[in-house]
Amino acid sequence: MDIKNICCIGAGYVGGPTMSVIALKCPHIKVNVVDINEERINAWNDSNLDNLPVFEPGLPSVVEQARGKNLFFTTNVDDCIREAQMIFIAVNTPTKTYGEGKGQAADLKYVELCARKIAEIATDNKIVVEKSTLPVRTAEAIQTILDSTGNGVKFEVLSNPEFLAEGTAINDLFKSDRVLIGGQQTKDGKEAIQKLVDIYAQWIPLEKICTTNVWSSELSKLVANAFLAQRISSINSISAICEKTEADVEEVAKAIGMDSRIGNKFLKSSVGFGGSCFQKDILNLVYISKSLGLDEVSNYWSQIIKINDYQKTRFAKQIMKSLFGTVSGKKITLLGWSFKKNTNDTRESAAIYIADILIENGANICVYDPKVSKQQMLSDLDYLNSRSTEDNKKALTSCSDPYSATHSSHAVAIITEWDEFIEYDWKKIYFNLIKPAKVFDGRNILNRKALEEIGFEVYSIGKAIQKK
Ligand code: NAD
Ligand code: UGA
Repeated sequence: MDIKNICCIGAGYVGGPTMSVIALKCPHIKVNVVDINEERINAWNDSNLDNLPVFEPGLPSVVEQARGKNLFFTTNVDDCIREAQMIFIAVNTPTKTYGEGKGQAADLKYVELCARKIAEIATDNKIVVEKSTLPVRTAEAIQTILDSTGNGVKFEVLSNPEFLAEGTAINDLFKSDRVLIGGQQTKDGKEAIQKLVDIYAQWIPLEKICTTNVWSSELSKLVANAFLAQRISSINSISAICEKTEADVEEVAKAIGMDSRIGNKFLKSSVGFGGSCFQKDILNLVYISKSLGLDEVSNYWSQIIKINDYQKTRFAKQIMKSLFGTVSGKKITLLGWSFKKNTNDTRESAAIYIADILIENGANICVYDPKVSKQQMLSDLDYLNSRSTEDNKKALTSCSDPYSATHSSHAVAIITEWDEFIEYDWKKIYFNLIKPAKVFDGRNILNRKALEEIGFEVYSIGKAIQKK
């Protein structure tokens, strides 16, 4: 029996875009995306496509083409589960903030709630697909919960991790490097795998659809993120050496990236990686390794996070050092708050930690980001619990344009690599700044020579500081 009805639990950065693309590419399948967050669902249903809850280039057009035809966003979880032949679980799996595994393990309570809900509601056989990123062997726990009702309904659990990156999600979904599907190697398991393969095969070439056992699939997702983050921490560690030796990190990245065995992607030195997943997934790998008694493996992966923290702190300290050892009472402008360009997502953004360190040292922070609200910035700072909400409000302001944001500032720091920052009138910004005017380019996107000609003192990640 072909799949004609899909339900996805979780309408976030993954559930929303992924299901919109499936609906567009498979017009014969009804796709219901459900969430308990009514505000989010309302935003997905907003007739003004600028108000979708996720900012992602190309997403409004995909939603516009499918929504109301075979794509529906709703809070009606029970009915959608009941109707569906295949149910994706795409809920959040954050790092635990309490109890056993606090600060490392993935919090699986939302996933467990979904499994219990499906078990409670289902009256006919279903394929349940793990879309969320999960620790290896979670499928076993999900299967146990699903089978616990004893009502005769049969469930087949698949793992189908998502590899999209924010900011390029639609392109990643249209032209995936690969789609990974893990399942039980039994007759029923293989049939379930085939049903999911048939869906992706509507637009993904078969040779790019990789099928494995469930555990390999679950583990591969964590490993893919760990390897990607490892490259960033590796090049960031080298950036610190470059700054002390007059080697240039961009030249080094280019030189090593020309080796086809190394490859040239993900070698961009930065203020440190952010985003909801790299840190969370590596911490999870660290926790799993430790739980398996593999301390050396666990220590190995925890270094990736240590270097990332070091890079964020190093950048903030560089600002303080260049401002004659103190930022107390000084206005510092941050350009960018999201964790990368072309997204409004701020989770684990380096900006939050850099701002926190500067505020702790007495700075007044003014932020301009094209897509992030002041309310979001303050809530990110509050989440760190470093000081009261009132104190954060006093220390952080945001401006609606870069020129007012830089007025009477002692320094400008580029935190996110938004393209528009390159196009600014940097002469005007120079005029706005208190002299000596300093730019800290945390993404190496600006033309350093041109800025120095204007009169700026420029600090670039992984490049020697040129004293005037
Ligand atoms: P998110 O927080 O944006 O969205 C999760 C949604 O699930 C929320 O809207 C929440 O309200 C909803 N939810 C939670 N419990 C629910 C329940 N019981 N019933 C109904 N809805 C419920 O998270 P996200 O960024 O979409 O990530 C989801 C998963 O995908 C995570 O495991 C993450 O690691 C993984 N992932 C994320 C990305 C990414 O780029 N964000 C990429 C690949 C994989
Ligand atoms: C990452 C992975 O790239 C996706 O494959 C994965 O599906 C996703 O995590 C996930 O599981 O959530 P994402 O975090 O959206 O995607 O964005 P990336 O492009 O990977 O960037 C992550 C962070 O690394 C950003 O802060 C980015 O600025 C930084 N980065 C990236 C660098 O500092 N240097 C680089 O060379 C590349």
